[in-house]
Amino acid sequence: RTAAALSRPVFFIGFMGAGKTSVSRKLARKLGLGAIDMDTYLERREGRRVKDIFAEVGEDGFRDIETDVLRELAAKDPLLVSCGGGIVKMLRNRVILRESGFVVHLRVGVDEAASRISDKSTRPLFQNLDDARALAEERAPLYDDVADATVDTAGKTVNAIAYEVKRLL
Ligand code: S3P
Repeated sequence: RTAAALSRPVFFIGFMGAGKTSVSRKLARKLGLGAIDMDTYLERREGRRVKDIFAEVGEDGFRDIETDVLRELAAKDPLLVSCGGGIVKMLRNRVILRESGFVVHLRVGVDEAASRISDKSTRPLFQNLDDARALAEERAPLYDDVADATVDTAGKTVNAIAYEVKRLL
């Protein structure tokens, strides 16, 4: 599958700290397209922070809201969407991603991801390295399963990654 000359959304997936938000913003500027960060959009829609949603309705409640948001964004005109790292957890989301756009996996190792994440308090599922490693291992096959293209981000700048993605579209 290809992005069909950007006639559909491009979804960025990958583990927390992969650079989905930064890369999509940078690429949006290069392409003259809009970029939307799913979690930011979700927080505005809900009027509360992701960490508060987790505290109030748990991960299951968060996943339900996340799927509603994904459906909304998948129906929009071509734009770049940076997804939450857990978007691939639910089968229903993997189906929506595959059917709605071009999916780019930004791959990152857990140690590098940890060094990129300045504020762990906003990420309820990235609290310590052991748990993050287990989660990353569980997610790896799911990212691979849904990705149309994968870019290894190890040691690369946001600009270099955005340029690499641009050539894939
Ligand atoms: C999550 C990743 C977060 C956010 C939520 C859950 C996950 O997004 O959606 O904390 O399950 O991996 P980022 O990947 O943007 O940090």
